[in-house]
Amino acid sequence: RLPVAVIGTGSYVPERRLTNADLEKMVETSNEWIVERTGILERRIAAENEHTSHMATRAAERALESAGVSPEEVDLIIVATITPDTFTPSTACYVQNNIGAKNAVAFDISAACSGFLFALKTAVQYIGCGQARTALIIAAEKLSTVVNWEDRSTCVLFGDGSGAAVLRTGDQPGDGAVLASDIGSDGSLHDLLRIPGGGSACPTTTENVHERLATLAMRGNETFRHAVSHMKESATSLIERAGIQPEEIKLVVPHQANLRIINAVAQRLTIPADRVFVNLQKYGNTSAAAVAIAFDEARREGRFGKGDIVLLVAFGAGLTWSSAAIRW
Ligand code: ACO
Repeated sequence: RLPVAVIGTGSYVPERRLTNADLEKMVETSNEWIVERTGILERRIAAENEHTSHMATRAAERALESAGVSPEEVDLIIVATITPDTFTPSTACYVQNNIGAKNAVAFDISAACSGFLFALKTAVQYIGCGQARTALIIAAEKLSTVVNWEDRSTCVLFGDGSGAAVLRTGDQPGDGAVLASDIGSDGSLHDLLRIPGGGSACPTTTENVHERLATLAMRGNETFRHAVSHMKESATSLIERAGIQPEEIKLVVPHQANLRIINAVAQRLTIPADRVFVNLQKYGNTSAAAVAIAFDEARREGRFGKGDIVLLVAFGAGLTWSSAAIRW
């Protein structure tokens, strides 16, 4: 198999900030509750005319620029999203057109918050067996369009944004080598976290729009428990498979859903807090985009450097979970 490396990253968040104080005016909540239970201070909300594909395109352009790769060189585009612009065509096809990647094949995948690392694993397989040379993976979400803004138990959690990475092979593994990656799912727990309406099971009608069926519904407490155990298990088996020790990991970049989940996972992995990247206070949970944005921000902030090992780990609806170890 050919070695695969991440050679560039990029991310984008919309300008508009929705603070906890703003939410206090919309639902019965408080800054204190949100901070104590989640760690979130504010989130970004895309403008009405700014679609998922627009945010995906901005992150993709930044990732290509950081990799020094032109759009024509890209032969695979994968977009991970649960908020596509349209059911069809795929958001990846819009991005392909926006950036002019005319030599690429483009498709979407749906794995909720685990989506970015599902895309990474898919690209690693394509490149590893010689089916693609340069892949652009993107995670982008406009969750503000699927949030019930009258449900305080979910509306305080989510935000909009996008992140991307460019992957490539070469004869030498080089910088950014993907050491190992893991994905998993458990469909028996599909009802813990879902958007019940808007699909073929419950097509959009005036009645169910009124009942807000096309918005995120979550059993938060149970989801919390599964998030901690699955991220811990995925990361532990990955660490073993990659042949590395926890103390060799320079930085853990976890899914950004809840600070308490992140702390519980880090504790179980025996990784101290100063080696765990957190940016959810600024963006909330941006589903698939969360790990991608965090990875890009950590790189740009110099939280890891050449030769350092970074562990990415995520969890989401499905249930799904995923992790990847990268030697930068
Ligand atoms: N403001 C004030 N009170 C609230 C709010 C709010 N925004 N939301 C809920 N409450 C109340 C509840 O009504 C409840 O009140 P009660 O005790 O009188 O019934 C109380 O606060 C406690 O509610 P819980 O749901 O038990 O609170 P919990 O500590 O579990 O925190 C949370 C809720 C933040 C949602 C947490 O469960 C969580 O983070 N879950 C996991 C989220 C996650 O990881 N999702 C996966 C990825 S997302 C994806 O895939 C798209």
